[in-house]
Amino acid sequence: MAALYWLLYITMVILVLPSCFQGSNARLHDHKSKHHRETRGMISEAPVPPPAEPPAKSFDIDNSSSDPCIFDVTAFGAVGDGSTDDTEAFRSAWRAACAVNSSILLVPSNGVFMITSTIFSGPCQPEFIFQVDGVLMPPNGPKCWPKKDSKRQWLVFYRVDGMTFRGAGTIRGNGEEWWNLPCKPHRGPNGSTLPGPCDSPALIRFFMSSNLTVRDLYIENSPQFHVKFDGCEGVHIEGLSINSPALSPNTDGIHIQDTKYVGIYNSLISNGDDCISIGPGCSDVDINNVTCGHGHGISIGSLGMQNSEACVSNISVRNAMIRNSDNGVRIKTWQGGMGSVSDITFDSVYMDNVKNCIIIDQYYCLSKECRNQTSAVYVTNVFYTNIKGTYDVRAPPIHFACSDSVPCTNITMSEVELLPFQGELIDDPFCWNAYGGMQTLTIPPISCLQDGMPESVHETISLQCL
Ligand SMILES: *[C@@H]1O[C@H](CO)[C@@H](O)[C@H](O)[C@H]1NC(C)=O
Ligand SMILES: *[C@@H]1O[C@H](CO)[C@@H](O)[C@H](O)[C@H]1NC(C)=O
Ligand SMILES: *[C@@H]1O[C@H](CO)[C@@H](O)[C@H](O)[C@H]1NC(C)=O
Ligand SMILES: *[C@@H]1O[C@H](CO)[C@@H](O)[C@H](O)[C@H]1NC(C)=O
Ligand SMILES: *[C@@H]1O[C@H](CO)[C@@H](O)[C@H](O)[C@H]1NC(C)=O
Ligand SMILES: *[C@@H]1O[C@H](CO)[C@@H](O)[C@H](O)[C@H]1NC(C)=O
Ligand SMILES: *[C@@H]1O[C@H](CO)[C@@H](O)[C@H](O)[C@H]1NC(C)=O
Ligand SMILES: *[C@@H]1O[C@H](CO)[C@@H](O)[C@H](O)[C@H]1NC(C)=O
Repeated sequence: MAALYWLLYITMVILVLPSCFQGSNARLHDHKSKHHRETRGMISEAPVPPPAEPPAKSFDIDNSSSDPCIFDVTAFGAVGDGSTDDTEAFRSAWRAACAVNSSILLVPSNGVFMITSTIFSGPCQPEFIFQVDGVLMPPNGPKCWPKKDSKRQWLVFYRVDGMTFRGAGTIRGNGEEWWNLPCKPHRGPNGSTLPGPCDSPALIRFFMSSNLTVRDLYIENSPQFHVKFDGCEGVHIEGLSINSPALSPNTDGIHIQDTKYVGIYNSLISNGDDCISIGPGCSDVDINNVTCGHGHGISIGSLGMQNSEACVSNISVRNAMIRNSDNGVRIKTWQGGMGSVSDITFDSVYMDNVKNCIIIDQYYCLSKECRNQTSAVYVTNVFYTNIKGTYDVRAPPIHFACSDSVPCTNITMSEVELLPFQGELIDDPFCWNAYGGMQTLTIPPISCLQDGMPESVHETISLQCL
């Protein structure tokens, strides 16, 4: 009997051993992404280029292809069997494609390509397209991550202007083992964390780039943030599907910081952290027709960490659907800090069983040890209109906790109707040092917003951003 158990045990150990370069995982899940692709037909209008020719003998520019502007990674030696390290082939394909006007770097639909952390640098010639029709993925978990590679990022696009990243394929993050690192929230006893290395890679990062388009892709199971933009200007995101489990820590769907002129449209995001997070230095952001599931909702923040200055302005969120989430639409700032959050509109947001549907939290803190401070990021001109649906009664549906010393001002509410998903309202709407008014009565009724402007507002104006 004991021998049998040993045999079973050993077999299981072998089965769960990290299989860095085996790709068994990859192939098992392959049908899933194909199935998914069909259901997305409507939003995928990327023209599918002609099928790739077999790999050319020389890994030079493949001039046997019917279109001279298509640079198929397999023509540069990529194997796409889910286990071979194809990084070098991708680098060569990038160098060749990036140098040609109106070219397409193609990751063909019939392969599962594994590459290690890579910085793809521009500038490239105009109208460059990186098209993923197959599966593209990083090594499977921290044990397989090459020691010399950054553990904070995987695909990085740096100084690319006017690039389009698109395709009918899947970016598969292989995030499971990263989420289970002991340092991650809720891994230790009683929701605590344990010591140990914690860096986990953002899956796709655009850095110091402009005029970007990211569309149609299916992106799943990132180790950390799924798609991140910093220092960018002019970003158009459309028709993305982002998917990872509710219990995947820090897996923000789309994160932007120091980025201006951003449009995020017609996308579906289900994940374990913020659906969309907007960090310091962002302005002119338009979000329309985004559905968020089982994460932490749409967040502006967190801002003002370690007394930093944050400037965020002109953000609009329209026609959003937020389901089974820990927050709906949130503005979060740390105690301390400078700058302002201004001209924010949340228009037509439908909530389905959401905790803290509408929340401003100026006491954001990851531990319980943050001291109250006198400075704060100033929150002003926030408009909530047509916010409807149901809330989870474990938290008040409307919560404005503004800083003691720097009040929130000009919060306007119109057509806010939120009903309990199940059970009875326990806590009434909460306001602290919040000024503004209602254009229509709200459900639940809110009586705690203060009229007019506070006397201290003149001092706060000096904190505003230019
Ligand atoms: C490209 O085409 C030229 C002329 O047709 C041919 O000589 C050359 O070998 C081709 N190169 C490759 C890599 O196929
Ligand atoms: C790139 O190609 C387009 C046409 O496809 C052309 O109008 C443009 O002038 C070209 N740009 C450069 C820099 O060659
Ligand atoms: C976890 O919480 C329970 C109940 O509060 C307590 O008895 C136990 O000691 C805690 N365990 C640890 C490791 O802190
Ligand atoms: C972005 O594209 C627009 C229009 O094509 C162009 O006018 C602008 O200069 C570009 N911006 C940058 C920073 O490349
Ligand atoms: C909203 O986005 C979904 C995809 O998430 C798309 O199917 C639908 O057509 C979009 N609606 C509108 C009005 O564009
Ligand atoms: C606000 O941002 C939008 C883009 O989302 C832009 O079109 C508009 O001009 C901006 N408004 C102001 C007042 O800057
Ligand atoms: C910080 O200020 C808030 C609002 O006045 C108060 O409720 C809270 O107890 C204070 N926290 C600390 C740690 O002093
Ligand atoms: C208050 O905010 C609204 C937008 O919600 C804006 O139109 C209005 O100008 C603001 N009022 C002041 C006095 O800034």
